[in-house]
Amino acid sequence: MSSDPAPTPHATAEQVEAAWHDPKLANVLYHDWEAGTYDEKWSISYDERCIDYAAGRFRAAAPWDGRPYLRALELGSGTGFFLLNLMQAGVAERGVVTDLSPGMVAAATRNAEHLGLEVEGAVVDGEHIPFPDDSFDLVVGHAVLHHIPDVEAAFREVLRVLEPGGRFVFAGEPTTVGDAYARKLGQWTWKATTTLTRLGPLQGWRRPQHELDESSRAAALESVVDIHTFDPADLERTATRAGAEGVRASTEEFAAAMLGWPVRTFEAAVPPGKLGWNWAMFAYHGWQRLSWLDEHVLNRVVPRSWFYNALITGTKPR
Ligand SMILES: C[S@@+](CC[C@H](N)C(=O)[O-])C[C@H]1O[C@@H](n2cnc3c(N)ncnc32)[C@H](O)[C@@H]1O
Repeated sequence: MSSDPAPTPHATAEQVEAAWHDPKLANVLYHDWEAGTYDEKWSISYDERCIDYAAGRFRAAAPWDGRPYLRALELGSGTGFFLLNLMQAGVAERGVVTDLSPGMVAAATRNAEHLGLEVEGAVVDGEHIPFPDDSFDLVVGHAVLHHIPDVEAAFREVLRVLEPGGRFVFAGEPTTVGDAYARKLGQWTWKATTTLTRLGPLQGWRRPQHELDESSRAAALESVVDIHTFDPADLERTATRAGAEGVRASTEEFAAAMLGWPVRTFEAAVPPGKLGWNWAMFAYHGWQRLSWLDEHVLNRVVPRSWFYNALITGTKPR
């Protein structure tokens, strides 16, 4: 939207100080700072690999008859990973990418333009969505609910802007148990990588110290921006209380998360571009194999709350 605020990619010390007590400001600063390098940091692409991943999460969360939704809204779109790849998979025809961070909205609309997709962008707080009632037939989000202070208010807003019968799908939310082991694995990997890359022959794999320091400071802000972890049954109750119908939460990634978190942390700890395409394919295929194990074997014996990722879907009553 033309009145959207400008990004703040380099926050002042005063802004960072204020952000410690204001999770929304922290989210804006943290994600504006991340926006320029986010796709690289998280190995996000807009090709078959991520199209399959996004469409796979959508199908894992919700029934889909293969017909495209006509007008979709994404909350907390970041650089557009979820909705842009869902559109490329044929899940939605037209879309609006929104985020609290102006830097992320700019990145997402740029990505959409490169892909030739019909997409608008707007800076939006998920607790107060500035669109009229019944505007969309689909609302999606990936890894956004855990950043929103009042998740029930966000669900109420999602239901308000959905037309009757319209569906929401949120994926990539951390479960409480999953988040505990993922954080530990991430911390150990960071420590091991940044220690080993001090050694002579491995120094070419070390990021400049000021970049590592900046990442560590950002990681500290993560404790402010990451507000919630979810128990799947509680998340279902929250969406139902907000007025949704047919609510269903599912979970995925147990063994896959045990590989995924160390891999992603390692990628962030070494210089960008150092690992290349073969590494990305190794990581993706490894994740695929372990996801198969999770889906076909482990989900029969491991409680659903132990899996890392929660997905939730539901509809607006007709
Ligand atoms: C972890 S990132 C995920 C980005 C993207 N969906 C993805 O999966 O790559 C979370 C995003 O949610 C946004 N966000 C945080 N709080 C929000 C809020 N209250 N309303 C809307 N978006 C928010 C952040 O700015 C950030 O871009």
